[in-house]
Formats: sequence, structure tokens, C-alpha cells
Amino acid sequence: MWPLVAALLLGSSCIGSAQLLFDKTRLVEYTSCNETVVIPCFVTNVGAQNPGEMFVKWKFNRTYIFIYDGSRNNSTADSNFSSAKISVSELIKGDASLKLDKADAVVGNYTCEVTELSREGETVVELKYRVVSWFSPNENILIVIFPILAILLFWGQFGLLTLKYKSNRTNRKIILLLIAGVVLTAIVIVGAILFIPGEYSVKNASGLGLIVISTGIVLILLQYNVFMAAFGMTSFTIAILITQVLGCVLAMVGLCLCMFACVPVHGPLLISGLGIIALAELLGLVYMKFVASNQRTIQPPRKAVEEPLNAFKESKGMMNDE
Ligand SMILES: *[C@@H]1O[C@H](CO)[C@@H](O)[C@H](O)[C@H]1NC(C)=O
Ligand SMILES: *[C@@H]1O[C@H](CO)[C@@H](O)[C@H](O)[C@H]1NC(C)=O
Ligand SMILES: *[C@@H]1O[C@H](CO)[C@@H](O)[C@H](O)[C@H]1NC(C)=O
Ligand SMILES: *[C@@H]1O[C@H](CO)[C@@H](O)[C@H](O)[C@H]1NC(C)=O
Ligand SMILES: *[C@@H]1O[C@H](CO)[C@@H](O)[C@H](O)[C@H]1NC(C)=O
Ligand SMILES: *[C@@H]1O[C@H](CO)[C@@H](O)[C@H](O)[C@H]1NC(C)=O
Repeated sequence: MWPLVAALLLGSSCIGSAQLLFDKTRLVEYTSCNETVVIPCFVTNVGAQNPGEMFVKWKFNRTYIFIYDGSRNNSTADSNFSSAKISVSELIKGDASLKLDKADAVVGNYTCEVTELSREGETVVELKYRVVSWFSPNENILIVIFPILAILLFWGQFGLLTLKYKSNRTNRKIILLLIAGVVLTAIVIVGAILFIPGEYSVKNASGLGLIVISTGIVLILLQYNVFMAAFGMTSFTIAILITQVLGCVLAMVGLCLCMFACVPVHGPLLISGLGIIALAELLGLVYMKFVASNQRTIQPPRKAVEEPLNAFKESKGMMNDE
């Protein structure tokens, strides 16, 4: 350590007006998620004791955009870069990094010139813009696939309802289910179109909101009504509905955490919620196709059940009847 310092001191005293040394960063990137953009400029061999002995100039495309005059403690910024500033308290540690609002940031080469007493130096940093997708490609696919799958499974259940459970349902209920199903499908398609992969935006976020809220909540209501129209509640259908509510809660919590986050770290939570909703729809379809339809041929349950809890008790009563 000491030999190095000695060598540096010796070097600077020998040469006289010596160079300032920089921790060289050639390139920095920013994305739509950076609210402020920091263009780094670190001097590694600062000798000044206070910022009054330092002078910093930032240049963009051969024009000075920011000047800090330590002797007058005065910062001036070009009108195109009005948010430009440096941290005067960090300057003494060698940090002359330029901070800009994202709105003022322009891609290109920035030159940092630092003068300290008789020493000076400069470094060039290129600022680039990088386009980042809100969710990763795989997450994008799953977020759209699971709701579409869940809706297709709902239509499967609806088909079974119209074909297999003719005697139990009323036409009015079928028509209401049909309308609700068509509206849901339309909303999810609109949501998926708004949600096309890209940078985080209000459009993207509202697309995600439409998809998740509609599949989460509407599908539970539809599934409940399909079960009621077909054969009422059994312990199995209650278990399926509970699973679906769980999936909905996970998806909603995930949505709240992702919706306003430029970098969504809770994507997996949201996706697992959507996956569970699709699974519940699948179980409902399988149950209607194989289990409940067989049960029905043995004993058509014509008991009107209004509430899931009553239904649960009655389904037990039903089994005793058998
Ligand atoms: C943009 O933000 C990222 C993550 O916060 C950060 O690592 C990066 O340095 C920022 N870029 C600029 C140019 O400030
Ligand atoms: C910077 O200068 C180059 C040519 O020297 C020019 O092509 C470019 O448009 C300039 N950029 C800005 C933002 O003024
Ligand atoms: C320099 O000016 C800023 C305000 O522009 C002030 O906050 C800071 O204390 C001043 N520093 C010195 C060393 O005078
Ligand atoms: C800094 O200097 C400029 C002129 O060079 C002047 O217009 C401005 O008022 C000064 N600012 C401060 C805070 O002294
Ligand atoms: C500032 O913006 C104006 C108009 O947009 C442009 O003509 C001028 O060259 C810009 N100055 C710098 C330093 O980029
Ligand atoms: C910045 O400078 C580098 C190296 O000199 C050059 O390759 C690059 O094209 C420049 N970028 C812009 C935007 O002018």
C-alpha cells in the first residue's frame, strides 16, 4: 500500500501536471425501468481536500451540458439536460458521476472532464438504451396459456351440461351461462391482445389486470353455476371450488405485486395461481364427465340445493339413500 502511494506521489511530483486516473467504465445501459440514469465517472487518485479545489465538466456530442465550478460552488446545466447534477459531497471521494432524469437521457457518448488543482483527466462513457420485456418470454406464454386453457375447459363443461344433463337444467340458466362465458372469453382475448410482450406500460398492465381478474373471479362463479345446474353440490365439487378459490387468491396477490412493478419479481406466484385455476377447471370437467354422470344414471338428484353448505349435508343424505 505505502510503496504504491509513494510511487504515485513521486510520479505526480516528477511529472508536475499529472493525469487524474479513472476507474474506466466504457458503457452503461438503462431501460424503461430506470427513473434516473447515472453515468459513472470515478477518479481513483483524488488529492484535493475539499470540492472547492475541483472542477467538473460533462460533455455530450462536443457540447458542454453540465459544469460544476468548485471555487464558486456553482453548478450549471444545459437547458436540454436541466435535471443533470452531480453529488458535491461525493466529489471529494472521486465520484463525479452525472445523474439525469430518464426524460433527459439521450443515448450517446458522454465525456467526463475533471480538473483538480493542477491535475486533470477525462473519460468517455457511452450510454445505451436497452429494451426489456416486462415479463420473461416463458412467463408471458404461461400467463396467456393458463387462462385460455381454463376457459376452454369451461366450454367443455358447458358442452357436457347441454348434452348430458338435459333434464336437470333450465334453459334460462343455460342462456345466462352462455352469455357469461362469451363475455368472459371476449374479455380475456382483449386482455391478451393488450398484454402483448413488450416493455412495462399502462396498456400491458391493464391487459394483465383484465386477464387475471376476469379468469380468477368469473370462472369461479361459472364453475359453481355449472355444478349447480348439473347435479348440485357434492363434497367433491366443494373441494374443486375451494381449490379454485385458492388459485384465485394466489393469482390476485401475484397481480397486485406485479401490476405496479416495472421489474415483476412475483411472476411465479401469479402464474401458479393461474395454473391452479386451470387445474380446478380440469378437475371439474373430469368429474362431470366420468364421476357425476355415472352417479346420475343411478339416481337423478332432483333436490333443489340453494347453498353449498346445505348441499354438502344433502349430498351425504343422498349417499345414505343409495
Ligand atoms: C438502471 O437500473 C439498473 C437497475 O437498478 C442499474 O443497475 C443500472 O446501473 C441503471 N442504469 C443507469 C444508466 O443508471
Ligand atoms: C451527435 O452528433 C452526431 C454527429 O457528430 C449526430 O449524428 C447525432 O445526431 C448527435 N446526437 C444528438 C443527440 O445531438
Ligand atoms: C454548495 O451549494 C449547495 C447548494 O447549491 C449547498 O447545498 C452546499 O452546501 C454548498 N457547498 C459548499 C461547500 O458551500
Ligand atoms: C452560477 O453561475 C451562473 C453564471 O455562470 C449564474 O447565472 C448562476 O446564478 C450561478 N448560480 C449560483 C447558485 O450561484
Ligand atoms: C438542445 O435541443 C435543441 C432542440 O431540441 C437542439 O437544437 C440543440 O442542439 C440541443 N442541444 C444539445 C446540446 O444537445
Ligand atoms: C461512442 O463511441 C464509440 C467509441 O468511440 C463508438 O463506437 C460509438 O459508435 C459511439 N456512439 C455513439 C452513439 O456515437
